Amino acid sequence: MREVRNRVVIIGTGAVGSSYAFGLLNQGISDEVVLIDLNEEKAEGDVMDLNHGLAFAPSSKKIWRGTYSDCKDADIVVITAGANQMPGETRLDLAEKNTKVFKSIVDGVMAHSFDGIFIVATNPVDVLSYMTWQFSGLPSERVIGSGTILDTARLRYQLGEYFDIDARNVHAYIIGEHGDSELPVWSHANVGGINVNQYIQKHENQYSQEDLEPIFHKVRDAAYHIIERKGATHYGIAMGLVRLTKAILHNENALVTVSGLLEGQYNQEDIYTGVPAVVNRSGIKEIVELNLSDEEQRLFEKSVGVIREAVESVRR
Ligand code: 2OP
Repeated sequence: MREVRNRVVIIGTGAVGSSYAFGLLNQGISDEVVLIDLNEEKAEGDVMDLNHGLAFAPSSKKIWRGTYSDCKDADIVVITAGANQMPGETRLDLAEKNTKVFKSIVDGVMAHSFDGIFIVATNPVDVLSYMTWQFSGLPSERVIGSGTILDTARLRYQLGEYFDIDARNVHAYIIGEHGDSELPVWSHANVGGINVNQYIQKHENQYSQEDLEPIFHKVRDAAYHIIERKGATHYGIAMGLVRLTKAILHNENALVTVSGLLEGQYNQEDIYTGVPAVVNRSGIKEIVELNLSDEEQRLFEKSVGVIREAVESVRR
């Protein structure tokens, strides 16, 4: 009998995939990690390098360079492969070429009777999550995009800096497209349990409502600023992916903002976008429907419209 072990297969060992593998190793998540890349040498080199850290890791792990046949027994397949943004490019500019890459990857995985959970991280993530759901034929709860998990973390960090409060005690969501049309949900943002607007009112000598918009802009444009400086972003998203993996493998029922299929929630259907969701061993257990303000709902619909257009254009 096969010993029950958690296996994560990572497809794409560029900056995001390898940082994610490093995060899994450091945080002791999963028993097995399989790396797959078209560039076999790169995957092989990462495997060697990661294995040399095992003696310092919090738990044991088997790490190897694999092939699609390793997906048969995988609990999670994480796709980080594909072209990434060049300076000046938007995430949506990658839709067509990465959809082609995804068709071949998802077909390759499914050819080995994969029956676990897909996590999609490649951009444009909402479009590619939708396409992965379509290509794989898996139930939508088992196709999860990283969505706005990172944008939400960036917002919590920025608000934490502004209010001088630990980001882990700041709760605020970014929803919609992981991209230029995303939006913050100020109506449900809180600092240590107090709504952000009330918090500002209570400390009106120190803080101002007007500072919130520039804070959001920093979040929305963060990837551009990082790409300008170092060519790519990878640590933040890798840690977000580790968080999501842990929520799944540890059956946490954790609330994370991921890209999930809307089926009537927020008055939208047949589209993947970033929303708060409860995630456990079965994938997305529930999409949490926040009571948005009228303005937030309007911006959300606009953002979903942007994703819908991109999905339609790649399906043509
Ligand atoms: C990020 O937001 C580029 O989507 C990537 O860091």
